[in-house]
Amino acid sequence: MNPTVDAARVAALETLLQVTRELTAELDHEALLTKILRAAMRVTRSSAGSLLLRDAAADALVFRVVVGGGGGALKDTRVPLTQGIAGEAFSRQRAVVVDDAETDPRYFRAPASSVGLQVHQLLAVPLSAQGRALGVLEVMNQAQGEKYTKVDVELLMAFAAQSAIALENARLYGELLQERDRILAVEAAVRHELARDLHDGPAQMLAVLVMQARLARDLAKQDPLRLAEETLSLEAIASKALYQTRNILFDLRPLILEQQGLRPALEQYALRLRMVEPFMVHLDVATCQTRFEPKQEAAIFAIAQEAVNNAKKHAQPKNIWIDAREAETILELAVRDDGPGFDVNEIQATYGTRGSLGLLNMRERAAIVNGALQITSAPQQGTRVLLTVPLIK
Ligand SMILES: Nc1ncnc2c1ncn2[C@@H]1O[C@H](COP(=O)(O)OP(=O)(O)OP(=O)(O)O)[C@@H](O)[C@H]1O
Ligand SMILES: [Mg+2]
Repeated sequence: MNPTVDAARVAALETLLQVTRELTAELDHEALLTKILRAAMRVTRSSAGSLLLRDAAADALVFRVVVGGGGGALKDTRVPLTQGIAGEAFSRQRAVVVDDAETDPRYFRAPASSVGLQVHQLLAVPLSAQGRALGVLEVMNQAQGEKYTKVDVELLMAFAAQSAIALENARLYGELLQERDRILAVEAAVRHELARDLHDGPAQMLAVLVMQARLARDLAKQDPLRLAEETLSLEAIASKALYQTRNILFDLRPLILEQQGLRPALEQYALRLRMVEPFMVHLDVATCQTRFEPKQEAAIFAIAQEAVNNAKKHAQPKNIWIDAREAETILELAVRDDGPGFDVNEIQATYGTRGSLGLLNMRERAAIVNGALQITSAPQQGTRVLLTVPLIK
């Protein structure tokens, strides 16, 4: 036993414990990166360091935080996954210790003008959590100019493992926040649409009804013979308002779907569309017999509604075809229109900035039921939304 090494180890572990406690409380991903690097430098008594994260899209490691020696210019620089000392730590998933980086052929050299740091001792360790390789943590230039020891390596490895978990937690938390914002946006969109439908439909009808009722009251005194005629028109308007309200309720929550299943719901939906829309609605549900899991029915029906709404809103079609075909283990729902079509790739590429949610919702609903959604469209060739769902009966 070497008491000096043991004492160093205990002191190091104490620091590690204290630092990891701080890290697990930090949920802001960007702030966490800086905290991790600063803490890694502290526990290894290093005067510089960098933290690189994997950018899966670019197949590279990216310098996300750089501390010391004007190395800030390195920030956002990319290095191939297997290049340099960091690349070795990442691709081999092991610690790499270098006593003089300047003379090491693996050392990644940034443009000389931008980095004035002479790097001697360097220690790089992989950052990975639950088998996911996230990046690399590098510390350099031990404060007293000493070499990194075995204890330093063990310590930084243990620290990196804890840091990677904290990073994963922060990433998941960030995703959760995004998901919450998305749900709030969907809710707000539904409320706006409902408000608009109520305003343009039943509310206007009711306003006319109030006027007509007043007129009828006057007529009752002045011209009782015309009263019967007036009440007829009153009844017609009231029926229309009732019909519109029921349509809105149907869109919001098609009870028939819950009570009788997908096929009757689609049939009733087609009937309603035919009554109010200028286009022809062709429905083919002949092979669709049985009931499915409620979650599946809800997702399939909602996708049909959004696909039809999109055709209504963007395509001014002459015809819409809704086909639900049931084969042994799958259900295929196809909604097709003969409108002008659109460039699907272009819309997808700019989707994040459009503020629309319909296509995204369709895809997410499909994913919830393990289905696949395919949208085929081209200018002048109409649009077809095809959903394929593996059936649970
Ligand atoms: N059947 C279609 N015919 C022509 N263009 C379509 C059709 N379906 C979708 N699009 C195009 O794709 C875009 C994205 O559709 P999406 O449903 O995501 O958004 P939206 O309908 O504009 O808004 P939201 O659905 O959020 O109310 C539409 O704005 C439209 O340009
Ligand atoms: Mg839409």
